[in-house]
Amino acid sequence: MSDLKTILQEATGALTEVMTMSDLEQTKARFLGKSGSLTEQLKALGKLSPEEKKTAGAAINEVKQQVEALINDAKNRILNAELEAKLAAEAIDVTLPGRTSGLGGLHPVTRCLERIEALFATMGFAVADGPEIETDYYCFTALNTPPNHPARSMQDTFYVLNSENLLRSHTSPVQIRYMEAHQPPLRIICPGRVYRCDHDATHSPMFHQIEGLWIDEGISLADLKGTLTQFFRAFFERDDMQIRFRPSFFPFVEPGVEVDIEWENKGGKIKWLEIGGAGVVHPQVLRNGGIDPEKYSGFAFGMGLDRLTMLKYGVNDLRLFFENDIKFLAQFR
Ligand code: FA5
Repeated sequence: MSDLKTILQEATGALTEVMTMSDLEQTKARFLGKSGSLTEQLKALGKLSPEEKKTAGAAINEVKQQVEALINDAKNRILNAELEAKLAAEAIDVTLPGRTSGLGGLHPVTRCLERIEALFATMGFAVADGPEIETDYYCFTALNTPPNHPARSMQDTFYVLNSENLLRSHTSPVQIRYMEAHQPPLRIICPGRVYRCDHDATHSPMFHQIEGLWIDEGISLADLKGTLTQFFRAFFERDDMQIRFRPSFFPFVEPGVEVDIEWENKGGKIKWLEIGGAGVVHPQVLRNGGIDPEKYSGFAFGMGLDRLTMLKYGVNDLRLFFENDIKFLAQFR
């Protein structure tokens, strides 16, 4: 009898402490398993007289029922705890604000490009296009820059190894492609991506240029100056915007100029930013494009679109346009 009391005490202690189902199984086996302590008690009944068997059997069964009830309680307790832990882990905070899909917007460079195309359209310019992977011929040779000409080193070019191809370093090759396909009068702009081995606050390895080409009878440098001045003043919405044309050299124009526009003006002290190259199309370039230089003349320009965007929005580092930082881009929505 005292054995049964001890077994019940042990079972009560053990079963109130079990925390997991596997612990519960082990504890259950300790008392009710094949060689569990209560099972041993039942096995020992065989050695008793029928009279003793009756009383001892009833006592053992009573303890067995109590142990089974304890096991049941423990099982319920563990299952409840597991359910509560699961519910807590899967809880949804219904007070959190929902995730909306953000509003997109055009990239500032694209916005400027659309505006530039619209402004040039009012001056009669159509939009033309050309390949970004160019041949050496269209990018340089046809533009009066034969192999080994020192002017090739003005642009740090990405050449494709063992090939005639390169990533175009400017949009000027479109001039030749367009001339080959059209006869004057022609008036186009050609926006697009170009590539150079450059990297600082005003130079990026991939950037955008806008080429311009106007060919007709009697077109001169004066037309170039008038067209660009009118464009810049309209683009920046400032009639007093200062524009500077500096003599410069490009093999495909003669004369050639560099175009600078006002970046900062502190009491008449102007800080300039170079925006593009331009000039009167070289007669040899017209010939290469299949156009008679005795009859026709024209001007061409190539402007940096990213630099125009920097000036338009007061951004002082060109690289910000290509880092895809949403905080930066969202300002232009
Ligand atoms: C040219 O690329 C000539 N093709 C322009 C031209 C066209 C001259 C037609 C005459 C006739 P240049 O290398 O200077 O020229 O580049 C033109 C403009 O592109 C520069 O003034 C500048 O605004 C921009 N640019 C040049 N390199 C970079 C760069 N790495 N990152 C951003 N903008 C650049």
